[in-house]
Amino acid sequence: MREFATFEERLSEWTIESMKSVFGLERSDVHLGVTPTNNEKFGDYQCNAAMELARTLKKAPRQIAQEFVDAAELPDFVEKIDIAGPGFINFFLSNRALAEHIELLENDPHLGTEQLGQGKTVIIDYSSPNIAKPMHIGHIRSTVIGNAIDRLYRFLGYKVVADNHLGDWGTQFGLMMIGFRHFVNEEALQEAPVEELERIYVASYNKSKEDETWRDKAKAELVKLQQGDAENRALWERFIKLSIEEFNTIYDRLDVKFDLYRGESFYNDRLPKIIESLEAKGLAKESDGALIVDLEEDGMPVCIVRKSDGGYNYATTDLATVEARIEEFDPERIVYVTDERQQLHFKQFFAISGKLGLDANLVHVWFGLMRLPEATFSTREGNVIKLAALLDEAESRALEMVKASSPEMPEAQQKDLAKAIGIGAIKYTDLSQNPQSLVTFTWEKALNMEGNSAPYLQYAYARISSVYDKFHAQFPDADIEKCPIVVEHELERRLAIKLSRFPAAVHGAADNYRPNIMADYLYDLAQIYSSFYQNVPFLKAEEGVRESRIRLCRSTARTLRQGLGLLGIETRERI
Ligand code: ARG
Repeated sequence: MREFATFEERLSEWTIESMKSVFGLERSDVHLGVTPTNNEKFGDYQCNAAMELARTLKKAPRQIAQEFVDAAELPDFVEKIDIAGPGFINFFLSNRALAEHIELLENDPHLGTEQLGQGKTVIIDYSSPNIAKPMHIGHIRSTVIGNAIDRLYRFLGYKVVADNHLGDWGTQFGLMMIGFRHFVNEEALQEAPVEELERIYVASYNKSKEDETWRDKAKAELVKLQQGDAENRALWERFIKLSIEEFNTIYDRLDVKFDLYRGESFYNDRLPKIIESLEAKGLAKESDGALIVDLEEDGMPVCIVRKSDGGYNYATTDLATVEARIEEFDPERIVYVTDERQQLHFKQFFAISGKLGLDANLVHVWFGLMRLPEATFSTREGNVIKLAALLDEAESRALEMVKASSPEMPEAQQKDLAKAIGIGAIKYTDLSQNPQSLVTFTWEKALNMEGNSAPYLQYAYARISSVYDKFHAQFPDADIEKCPIVVEHELERRLAIKLSRFPAAVHGAADNYRPNIMADYLYDLAQIYSSFYQNVPFLKAEEGVRESRIRLCRSTARTLRQGLGLLGIETRERI
């Protein structure tokens, strides 16, 4: 057993071994381990194996539970064992063991979380906006959710390759080339590059609708680009550079970093080969001049892999991308984060990858739409919200709050704090919901100091830090490291149990690609801490108890900070 093993791991190992020996089971298909209880009345962990073993052992579950309890020798960290209901076996951890465990965790940089990712690589394909187009709300959610998944996997010890799969290739570039040469306003391009490029595209597209020669010229420019014409190539590279620079200002504000910015174009040379393999394996066939993969047996519509004009599709590029990623990184899995509208695309190309023998564990993490009620954003135009403006507004609203609550704070510090709170509030609103449910964004909820929000958790963190400071001011000579943690009061116990369950929140969030599991954990932790703080004396407690409580306090602060960090949310000691 590893040094920082959780109670769940230790207890599960014990129940599995003991069940096997008490009942003479060689191996078992049923789950013999324990799970956390939802109600303290039933102890801290429960084992449901008695119910599951009833059929194999041909005995009533309650009798099985009783025989087990009578025969098994309790491990030293368990205080008491109980049988409840039809045959649940409940375990109560000893206070001493709990206290020692929290002390042990103080020395673990991973707060007890097992490094399951050691030696494994995971590629996370997220954000992935399109060149010369503003990021839409889907890209924003992909950025925030993808980045949380990225941080969770790194924390688990995985080598993460965060890859921004930019949409930098496609027929729109013909229209962009000719449009740029006719319509560009260099000044506007300096000011707001992506907006200007978008304007050019729309103008060029509209002209192509009414002007056939324009359309033909655009096509010719596209062909030149595809054939590597130096001038068009340079222009295209300029579009990319301008777009990435602008996207980067957003990523910087969101504290999001990518390892790679590999656009679709990076995989161009591989496309003909993918088509060849599809044909060689008899997977692709002609249909009205196009080349398609029939997915009827998989219950999906056909997937076009080469259009009748010879151009390739989104799916073809994604197949080539999988192949290239496997060759270069040998990933344990590849995770794609996009909005729900792309579900069919991913299902289709995952199925085709399988048929091609591209052996990879491919996961599509999709999320629902975020509803932005009218008048949420002052700068909203149609359906496009400008992300930079959204972040500005979050920071300025947070600054109002900070000025009201800490008028004496130096201005630079107020601004820094407002940044952490404003950006945190935007991220947390997104991350605290099940990604697949409909999220309605409101400022009231995002910035609510009393509810489940980033500012609430950030304030909780800062409040704990100030207790810690007050303690040191009042007892400058105290050496808390020398005073053991004692878990006696019911609220101390609840807090200690919660702290010991941080690893489960990390695994739950990472395994299910649901950062909201971590958000829920942190909110619960903050609430437990808050009742601990309100009901149990700290500085007025007797010596020894006082130091122990300060240590619990410090562990709580550290856990909150780490957990928020995994969601990409910053904390400050002072609020
Ligand atoms: N660029 C695409 C879009 O904006 C998202 C790409 C997602 N990643 C992928 N490998 N298909 O919709």
